[in-house]
Amino acid sequence: MVADSSSKSATTVPAANKGVARTLAQHHKAVVGFLLGVFVTLVLYTTVSGQFGSTNTIVALQSTTPAQRNATTSPPSSTPAASAPNNSTKQDDVQKDDLNKTMGGERIQDGVHGTDKNNRTDANFDKKVLQANATTDQPGGQPVNNATTADANEKKLQEEELIQQELDQDDDKNDTNDVKKDAGAPAPRKPICDLSDPRYDICEIAGDARATNRTVLYVPPPGERGADGQEWAIKDQSRKHLEYIREVTVKTLSAAQSQAAPECTSRHAVPAVVFAMNGLTSNPWHDFSDVLVPLFITSRAFDGEVQFLVTDLQPWFVDKYRLILANLSRHEIVDFDRDAGVRCYPRVVVGLRSHRDLGINPARAPRNYTLLDFRMYIRDIFSLPPDSVGIPYKASGAAGTEEKRKPRLMLINRGRNRKFVNLPEIADGARAAGFEVVVVEPRRDLRLEEFSRVVDSCDVLMGAHGAGLTNFFFLRTNAVMLQVVPWGHMEHSSMIFYGTQAKEMMLRDVEYSITAEESTLYDKYGKDHPAVRDPESIHKQGWQLGMKYYWLEQDIRLNVTRFAPTLNQLLRTLGE
Ligand SMILES: *[C@@H]1O[C@H](CO)[C@@H](O)[C@H](O)[C@H]1NC(C)=O
Ligand SMILES: *[C@@H]1O[C@H](CO)[C@@H](O)[C@H](O)[C@H]1NC(C)=O
Ligand SMILES: *[C@@H]1O[C@H](CO)[C@@H](O)[C@H](O)[C@H]1NC(C)=O
Ligand SMILES: *[C@@H]1O[C@H](CO)[C@@H](O)[C@H](O)[C@H]1NC(C)=O
Ligand SMILES: *[C@@H]1O[C@H](CO)[C@@H](O)[C@H](O)[C@H]1NC(C)=O
Ligand SMILES: *[C@@H]1O[C@H](CO)[C@@H](O)[C@H](O)[C@H]1NC(C)=O
Ligand SMILES: *[C@@H]1O[C@H](CO)[C@@H](O)[C@H](O)[C@H]1NC(C)=O
Ligand SMILES: *[C@@H]1O[C@H](CO)[C@@H](O)[C@H](O)[C@H]1NC(C)=O
Ligand SMILES: *[C@@H]1O[C@H](CO)[C@@H](O)[C@H](O)[C@H]1NC(C)=O
Ligand SMILES: *[C@@H]1O[C@H](CO)[C@@H](O)[C@H](O)[C@H]1NC(C)=O
Ligand SMILES: *[C@@H]1O[C@H](CO)[C@@H](O)[C@H](O)[C@H]1NC(C)=O
Ligand SMILES: *[C@@H]1O[C@H](CO)[C@@H](O)[C@H](O)[C@H]1NC(C)=O
Repeated sequence: MVADSSSKSATTVPAANKGVARTLAQHHKAVVGFLLGVFVTLVLYTTVSGQFGSTNTIVALQSTTPAQRNATTSPPSSTPAASAPNNSTKQDDVQKDDLNKTMGGERIQDGVHGTDKNNRTDANFDKKVLQANATTDQPGGQPVNNATTADANEKKLQEEELIQQELDQDDDKNDTNDVKKDAGAPAPRKPICDLSDPRYDICEIAGDARATNRTVLYVPPPGERGADGQEWAIKDQSRKHLEYIREVTVKTLSAAQSQAAPECTSRHAVPAVVFAMNGLTSNPWHDFSDVLVPLFITSRAFDGEVQFLVTDLQPWFVDKYRLILANLSRHEIVDFDRDAGVRCYPRVVVGLRSHRDLGINPARAPRNYTLLDFRMYIRDIFSLPPDSVGIPYKASGAAGTEEKRKPRLMLINRGRNRKFVNLPEIADGARAAGFEVVVVEPRRDLRLEEFSRVVDSCDVLMGAHGAGLTNFFFLRTNAVMLQVVPWGHMEHSSMIFYGTQAKEMMLRDVEYSITAEESTLYDKYGKDHPAVRDPESIHKQGWQLGMKYYWLEQDIRLNVTRFAPTLNQLLRTLGE
């Protein structure tokens, strides 16, 4: 098995680290040099660094964007922004450059996002902040009106914060609309776009629905046609405030328009779901939180009898998650931006329902699905062993045929920030404690199919707070997610992004909070700096500052002496 060979060579620290430092430096240069927008997208707070990967054949579900893999696939919207070079050449250079620089997981969003965001005026941005207004108080939320790199970063940070606030606000609102609840329920008779949810907009069209070129038309029955028809512009993903999700038009045709409705070029017996694949995808946490879990909520109850009409289709996403997509829909995926036909469906859903970040509220989900159901579903789709087998450590002893082996710990490192600077020492420590260690560094060439099996073979998934932990969907019941919480009062975030989900999914959630001395901020700023001495004072000055220090700037030098008891406790827990 992959994992066996991996663990033997676990001490090798791939050359990724060198690349990372260089990458960072180059990014900064690139930014200062020209392209703010592209960089801005780099610092997505859960940067795709600590990704999927395994040691010698290091993994890589990476997260390349179409622009990286294939510059020709950039959607039409990728017009350079006013503040960026108006020609695509520089942009392309950056991307190619980045491709080379991006040792595993150091993912750069494509120029599309960069330019879109770059073009955002400050006024627009502020308006957006206000609109998205989940915004508790924003002590540091002054208008950002300087086009410096720092400000570009800041904008990005603001955006991240919005996302986080959205999350904090945990909007398990009451479900007053049963129609929304069950994908299998009779659909409403008229097109209904429901814009009331704080997270997403959704339209349900039943009857004569015609889909063409990012537009869904509803042709009412003759008796119900009006003098005019309502029209909506819907962001067809689970984050309705995300600026660079483009809108899909949904329109009820008037009596006159119905007469002239475009003819169907194909008729389908199954419903369709329209959703966007861009947005914050490419970071696995967002892939799941923004698209896959919402898609599960929205379409799983169709049992595969549904067609996906995808806007801003991302070939890498289709490829990476093909098993999941192919199970949710047994029908071909349609590129809704390019499809020239007029597809007629008995029912069309536009948008993706989402209950909370990386979560499902069973009371609002069809068939009362839970996040645990989702994990089981994912395991099923990836043909991982049934839940009854137990964690590998226990299973190995129970089987009788197999020798009792050590518990296996997957140690995921991040690439860009919050990385373990003393990785070999940590791996040695875990080995000394009695674990078999599988070190995983971000890389980009292993498939999810293989990697899911490596994760499944582990009893413990250990990593610093970050997207690599999203691999917990592949763990077995009662396996452990060991989250290393960086310095700076990040316990709350660690819980709401990963900890609560782990528990909901019947995984064991263990958190190890580092001390200031274990943060590289300590080396960088000294023990008397407020960021080191008093995180609260930093947070009080505005979240941007907290983001800068604790999410973006720090790496981790785990004190293996201090960490040892955690490992020992873990060992006992696994043996129970
Ligand atoms: C990449 O580009 C080539 C031609 O340049 C094209 O044939 C191919 O379909 C593209 N790949 C993807 C994934 O779009
Ligand atoms: C940027 O956005 C403004 C207003 O939203 C628009 O007028 C302008 O054309 C855009 N520029 C580019 C290069 O897309
Ligand atoms: C970009 O556009 C500006 C103004 O539109 C123009 O002055 C400049 O020459 C253009 N640069 C490139 C590289 O096309
Ligand atoms: C812009 O790009 C086009 C094609 O990519 C190229 O032909 C043209 O010379 C570029 N313009 C400038 C001003 O660089
Ligand atoms: C990547 O780097 C290699 C070697 O440094 C270089 O030959 C190649 O041209 C680079 N590719 C791109 C796309 O920049
Ligand atoms: C947004 O915040 C402003 C100012 O704090 C407040 O007046 C407004 O009601 C808020 N909007 C929403 C939708 O909460
Ligand atoms: C904008 O940036 C420039 C250059 O960095 C700086 O001199 C100026 O003070 C900044 N303005 C504001 C409002 O921050
Ligand atoms: C949800 O509904 C219950 C009962 O109808 C009500 O008591 C509660 O206040 C509602 N909660 C929210 C958040 O609206
Ligand atoms: C999806 O997977 C389930 C098992 O989890 C299987 O029963 C079902 O047939 C699959 N559906 C499709 C469309 O492949
Ligand atoms: C799709 O719509 C866009 C703008 O709405 C239009 O420019 C384009 O020609 C349309 N494409 C097709 C195939 O109808
Ligand atoms: C879903 O849960 C509700 C209570 O939360 C329950 O009344 C209902 O019967 C459940 N539905 C299904 C299909 O299990
Ligand atoms: C590591 O942790 C141990 C035990 O908590 C402590 O005694 C020691 O001082 C720490 N080492 C460093 C370098 O902080």
